[in-house]
Amino acid sequence: MLVSKEFVKNLPKVELHLHIEGSLEPELMFALAKRNNVNIPFATADEIKKAYNFSNLQDFLDIYYQGMSVLKKEEDFYDLTYAYLKKIASQNVMHTEIFFDPQGHTSRGIEFKTVINGITRALDDAKDEFGISSRLIMCFLRHLSEEDAFNSLNEAIPYKDRIIAVGLDSSEVGHPPAKFDRVFAKARAEGFLTVAHAGEEGPPEYIYEALDLLKVDRIDHGNRAMENKDLLKRIIDEEKALTVCPLSNLKLCVVDNLKNHPLKKMLGLGVKATINSDDPSYFGGYMTENFIAVAQNLNLSMEDLAQLTENAIEASFVSAKRKYEMIRELNNFLENNIEPVSTAI
Ligand code: ADE
Ligand code: ZN
Repeated sequence: MLVSKEFVKNLPKVELHLHIEGSLEPELMFALAKRNNVNIPFATADEIKKAYNFSNLQDFLDIYYQGMSVLKKEEDFYDLTYAYLKKIASQNVMHTEIFFDPQGHTSRGIEFKTVINGITRALDDAKDEFGISSRLIMCFLRHLSEEDAFNSLNEAIPYKDRIIAVGLDSSEVGHPPAKFDRVFAKARAEGFLTVAHAGEEGPPEYIYEALDLLKVDRIDHGNRAMENKDLLKRIIDEEKALTVCPLSNLKLCVVDNLKNHPLKKMLGLGVKATINSDDPSYFGGYMTENFIAVAQNLNLSMEDLAQLTENAIEASFVSAKRKYEMIRELNNFLENNIEPVSTAI
């Protein structure tokens, strides 16, 4: 590795792809199961961790939806979100944009307001305690129907001031972005920004659909854009950020080995790639662990890692003022931590 772990840990970071339900650590899962009288099919945290062996996205999703069943009350969503924010505060994350899956909860009889009130109260507290700014993105579960997504969108409209964007997640293959064309059109008309998971397992055509039909501001994952030169050129020309999730890609077998991860090629081509943790409790690491994994396996330089943060700042859904503050924090860190390169005379 060209850089020290200390440098990676202290590097200011921005996360743009994090499913809050995917930050549910086994210990909290047990505590909430007990508090809410929910049966979970595991006896110990170790047993849970052993079950986290996935051969594809669906393998993971089956366990992820089961894990959510312990979340019932506003306090549970608060505790979940606060635990994630406390963790990333220790990893020098300045700003985070958090996905949540309302349909994963409303389908179990939990009210939309219970979910959003718990999450946003923790976000407000984290801003005061840790100085972490945040945005919230609600996702539609793409394996469910268009009608279901419309219902979820209608429930979100009264909370528009707390939700910056809508996204699309869950089982990708067989559920193309086109299925949600009309839902996203309504969301945009209501003033939401848009993002979508595309090209994680699905083909490059799904990325085209996300861009052309859903008019997304960022692509979540986007790995399979590497298969199509024209698409790649468009992503570079239009400066569309990709929210790349290295440890997730490894755990879900999107890549066979991190040494073969496309991130370094993306950076070399000028793609606005960013690093994110996706579902850190399930995939073995938060932001710092993801940065270390790619730095080690792809021999990334300090400048590469700084570029990843710069890309994330630029692609974030915040004001120009907040972007400027974060760029300043990044530059301050770099000035104090990158040895000046001596130029040969
Ligand atoms: N939901 C949570 N994590 C996801 C992922 N990596 N892909 C699709 N849906 C998800
Ligand atoms: Zn994701």
